[in-house]
Amino acid sequence: MAGPTTEFWQERFEKKETRWDRGAPNPQLLAWLDSGALQPCRIAVPGCGGGWEVAELARRGFDVTGLDYTPAAVAKTRALLDTQSLKAEVVQADVLSYQPGQVFDAVYEQTCLCAIHPDHWLQYARQLRQWLKPEGSLWVLFMQAIRPAASEEGLIEGPPYHCDINAMWALFAQPDWAWPKPPYAKVPHPVLVHELGLRLIRR
Ligand SMILES: C[S@@+](CC[C@H](N)C(=O)[O-])C[C@H]1O[C@@H](n2cnc3c(N)ncnc32)[C@H](O)[C@@H]1O
Repeated sequence: MAGPTTEFWQERFEKKETRWDRGAPNPQLLAWLDSGALQPCRIAVPGCGGGWEVAELARRGFDVTGLDYTPAAVAKTRALLDTQSLKAEVVQADVLSYQPGQVFDAVYEQTCLCAIHPDHWLQYARQLRQWLKPEGSLWVLFMQAIRPAASEEGLIEGPPYHCDINAMWALFAQPDWAWPKPPYAKVPHPVLVHELGLRLIRR
């Protein structure tokens, strides 16, 4: 299987090489929540990592399922929930094969797509669509992390794999997904480059 494995991610957590981790919920998630655009519902957070977003959503009354296939990520998310006395389902599962018992109203995707080798993007996009009810929302942060070897030599490098907007347009293709009009929210990241935040609607 191309790209990083759960062992790769486990080692990142054990060595504390988690430079993607803001140590707090993503500011764009907070903006969506504070504006009322994202309202309490049944929501999945694939590749939840340290669990900041899972905890924030649980704190605001969402029925949250955090998913991650790496034991350390699952343990960190559960520990964060425990320290804040919050309740959420945390499932150790591969997002490429996970099947929920019940569809979700929404998915919050942050830094999971860019953690997966592009060989698996079509499968992941199909999974996200299947998890969602019709008219469900995919709240997504597309990581903009272009690398010189990608733009100059055509190498596919990651993680993070650059989520080029043209590739995203093809991956989450109409008519399966409804896109808002750009410009999209540009969300700075302290270490990585930036993310583009938008809401796609599952058709
Ligand atoms: C770059 S980290 C991002 C974590 C979190 N979303 C954040 O932004 O802080 C990627 C996470 O996705 C998880 N992940 C990657 N591929 C996965 C897969 N196929 N199934 C489940 N989790 C996966 C990793 O274990 C890791 O915790």
